[in-house]
Amino acid sequence: MPLPPPRQSPARPAAVNRWADARCAKAFWSQSELPVFHKLVAETLDLAAPKAGEAWLDLGCGGGTLTRGLWERSAGTVARVVGLDYAAANAARYEALDRELGAGGRVRFEHGDFSGGLARFADGSFDHAVSGLAISYAEHFDETTGRWTQAAYDALLAEVYRVLKPGGRFVFSVNVPEPSWWAVGLRSLVGAVTQSRRPLKFLKNCLRMNGYGGWLKTEARAGRFHYLPASETAAKLHAAGFADVRHTLTYARQAFLFTATKAS
Ligand SMILES: C[S@@+](CC[C@H](N)C(=O)[O-])C[C@H]1O[C@@H](n2cnc3c(N)ncnc32)[C@H](O)[C@@H]1O
Repeated sequence: MPLPPPRQSPARPAAVNRWADARCAKAFWSQSELPVFHKLVAETLDLAAPKAGEAWLDLGCGGGTLTRGLWERSAGTVARVVGLDYAAANAARYEALDRELGAGGRVRFEHGDFSGGLARFADGSFDHAVSGLAISYAEHFDETTGRWTQAAYDALLAEVYRVLKPGGRFVFSVNVPEPSWWAVGLRSLVGAVTQSRRPLKFLKNCLRMNGYGGWLKTEARAGRFHYLPASETAAKLHAAGFADVRHTLTYARQAFLFTATKAS
């Protein structure tokens, strides 16, 4: 009897990753001009409280806003800050940042995709890690079921746990489910435009960010990206091994700011 034809696995949707696009990276550099974003960065750095001699990892670092903050808050005494991001366009920005801060190579960029894990870093490479509105974009597509899964997100949390030293903290923000980009923009756009050194360019980048925001929400609804309730993120952190998991709601109520610790 002839064998039945092999079962076709469902086709992977055309999954362009716009984070790789330099225009997307550059649009998000303008985020740092939004007062509501400044507040989120300040809150993240308050929790991070970097100290002399520490090595820090900044996941999905973009143009390096948190990296700069870690350096400046420690008055340049941290041992090093490594930013990792999917967009190669951020490399030049980090080179300029390292020069501007006089960091002598201690502020460094790594181009990479955290969806594949953090294999480039050995166990216990960092004292602590930060991430700003980025880890939700860890993606995994299951070719067998034809569905996006949360496997890469779970694996990334486990990887962060692995690369931290005992006692290390992971301080990060992630968007709430169904985030309202308008709530973020309206809270501060008018003031930010008038205070911007280049208001037209800033406004153009804000419109561009809003366009990318539509793509992000569509993909999150499809299960590709992960804007999860705080309780689900907390459960994932515990499953990865973290303890002392806490969060607050911030960023015009559109993001959770988490802190979690690897036990000593
Ligand atoms: C909303 S931006 C935030 C950038 C930066 N953390 C900040 O606070 O300004 C999200 C960042 O996550 C990065 N990203 C998204 N998916 C990624 C992936 N799979 N691997 C590494 N970086 C990723 C993007 O390139 C982008 O820079």
